[in-house]
Amino acid sequence: MGFIALFYGGHGLDGNLGALNGKPHITGYVPGDVMGNSQFLAHALLGGLVTFAGAWQLLPGLRRRWPALHRWNGRLFLVIALVVTLTGFWLTWVRGSQLGTGSNLSISLNGLLILGFVGLAWRSARRRDFAAHRGHALRAWLLVNGVWFLRIGILLAGMVLAPLGVTVDYTSATFVIVSFASWGLPLAVLELYLRAGRSPRPGPKYATALLLGVLALATLAGSAAALAFMWLPYL
Ligand code: HEM
Repeated sequence: MGFIALFYGGHGLDGNLGALNGKPHITGYVPGDVMGNSQFLAHALLGGLVTFAGAWQLLPGLRRRWPALHRWNGRLFLVIALVVTLTGFWLTWVRGSQLGTGSNLSISLNGLLILGFVGLAWRSARRRDFAAHRGHALRAWLLVNGVWFLRIGILLAGMVLAPLGVTVDYTSATFVIVSFASWGLPLAVLELYLRAGRSPRPGPKYATALLLGVLALATLAGSAAALAFMWLPYL
């Protein structure tokens, strides 16, 4: 979120859009392509905002203290998630910013699932079915973060495989597997978490807590790598 605000927001505000290409993109800024550039910039900026709006929704203290803010921020999250997903589809399938068939398929499925769970989260909230709402909103939140998990996953896979002499390029099997895992694995772990929460036995709760602890450490390691290799060099 911080990097997006500084990098995309900074160059957007100073009007020097050409500087956006100071870091690698699939297509990025193209002089004269007003429609493509605006979709690209809106997608990236709102992509940062949606992760912030979603994270706010997860804090129980804030939810209890300011319920009206939770409702309005929830609506904001759902609307921005829709806009980011639809601009993402446009960038991929109309502008042609593609990395390969496997990657296109994975990000498109990720996008379709976001649309589905955003709709279900909104509908269950309107019906005041808060148990269902919690599940669907958490699924939408994890799916929105799929693009982030993808970056972490690729960096971690690169760190593990580089010493073995294996490079991870965009069409490699590793990239495609990590792409599908970037949203499939979080969804599967969420189901385990929700089931463990409903289980009367302590075993599944401890096992899920352990799994979440390990994954949190992996996320931390991937985030540190992203900071070092993907963000700081371009600020
Ligand atoms: C809703 C969650 C999403 C978020 C938070 C998000 C966020 C972002 C961000 C921040 C970038 C810029 C990346 C960079 O600077 O390296 C980006 C690029 C991109 N996104 Fe998304 N995105 C999301 C969903 C999608 C979906 C569902 C698609 C396709 C169906 C998509 C397609 C793209 C494409 C093609 C680019 C590359 C544009 C280029 O490099 O020229 N995104 N996204």
